[in-house]
Amino acid sequence: MLFPTVLLVISSAWLAAAAPARRSAPAAVTDTSILQYALTLEHLEHTFYVQGLEQYDAQAFCDAGYEPSVRGRFAQIRENERAHVEFLTSQLGADATAPCNYSFPYTDIPSFVAVSQTLEEVGAAAYMGAAISVESRDVLSAALAISHTEARQAGWVSSAVQKEQPWDGDYETPLYFSGVWSLASGFITSCPATNPDLPVQTFPALTLTPAMPVMGQNVSVSYNSTGAPISADGETWLAWYHNMNTTFTAIGADGVTTVPDDLRGTVFAGVVSNTTVTRDDATMLSGLAALSFPYNSSTVVDA
Ligand SMILES: *[C@@H]1O[C@H](CO)[C@@H](O)[C@H](O)[C@H]1NC(C)=O
Ligand SMILES: *[C@@H]1O[C@H](CO)[C@@H](O)[C@H](O)[C@H]1NC(C)=O
Ligand SMILES: *[C@@H]1O[C@H](CO)[C@@H](O)[C@H](O)[C@H]1NC(C)=O
Ligand SMILES: *[C@@H]1O[C@H](CO)[C@@H](O)[C@H](O)[C@H]1NC(C)=O
Ligand SMILES: *[C@@H]1O[C@H](CO)[C@@H](O)[C@H](O)[C@H]1NC(C)=O
Repeated sequence: MLFPTVLLVISSAWLAAAAPARRSAPAAVTDTSILQYALTLEHLEHTFYVQGLEQYDAQAFCDAGYEPSVRGRFAQIRENERAHVEFLTSQLGADATAPCNYSFPYTDIPSFVAVSQTLEEVGAAAYMGAAISVESRDVLSAALAISHTEARQAGWVSSAVQKEQPWDGDYETPLYFSGVWSLASGFITSCPATNPDLPVQTFPALTLTPAMPVMGQNVSVSYNSTGAPISADGETWLAWYHNMNTTFTAIGADGVTTVPDDLRGTVFAGVVSNTTVTRDDATMLSGLAALSFPYNSSTVVDA
């Protein structure tokens, strides 16, 4: 390998500059609004690959030290995303959301690869989190089929391209509507005014210092808490979403919390008001950060 693995920390804070205007109220969660939310994410992913592969040709990938097959696989992912866009558009008919304008933060092929990995992880997590709210078995089945494809794409990027772990542990991590939106919406600069409202709320951006927290060490947590609902006693926690497990670490009055020491692979974190694990956005106080704790084949994972 001629290039170092690039690990990108994507946080709602880091993306905030590009965030589109706050929407008034979340749309009700229905199969239609879930499909519109899914299509919004698929348009974003598809455009990401179209633009990136227009910018970087086979020679550019070769010059950057990647194996010759890598660009072709990314082109296949682009076509997979195009198919997802077409499928969801056909399901929604007249209710389909139109593409937006986007701003992606990569500056070279390694950072393009890193953004790709996060988009695929968040995409897979979005379908998993939405599954519990889907009413139609047909829609659920299609969502699973798309989610699996996105998770396999993420695994390919992580292992074959980044030379890191192919999975994040024994389970994938579901994310709910507003958490996903906090990570994805920052890539969107403007949308057609005719696009429908999505079943999401906007939460203040989260900043972690250091941006790449170290397991077992302290991390400083900050977000704009003005107006945020807090629990009766004012306590807050950082929720670490990893596998199907959520670990809560109390945030001290100094804004400091301690990073759990058993995180593996992609982990999401966000501030919450309550240590009840919810299947919705009820306890969120901040947007999420997508974090990376790479582990290699020598790491013994607890039985
Ligand atoms: C996207 O940007 C172009 C050029 O700035 C603008 O003309 C167009 O209206 C924008 N489209 C949307 C959907 O915001
Ligand atoms: C983390 O911060 C707490 C309180 O702010 C402190 O008591 C503890 O020693 C710190 N731990 C580490 C590993 O720095
Ligand atoms: C969840 O994670 C915590 C610490 O991060 C760990 O102590 C606990 O055993 C885990 N629970 C499960 C069910 O994996
Ligand atoms: C925590 O949130 C859950 C879900 O919203 C709620 O049912 C519960 O009462 C809350 N607990 C506390 C202590 O606030
Ligand atoms: C795996 O990671 C550990 C700790 O980060 C390191 O000591 C070891 O050399 C690595 N092994 C391989 C095969 O890369």
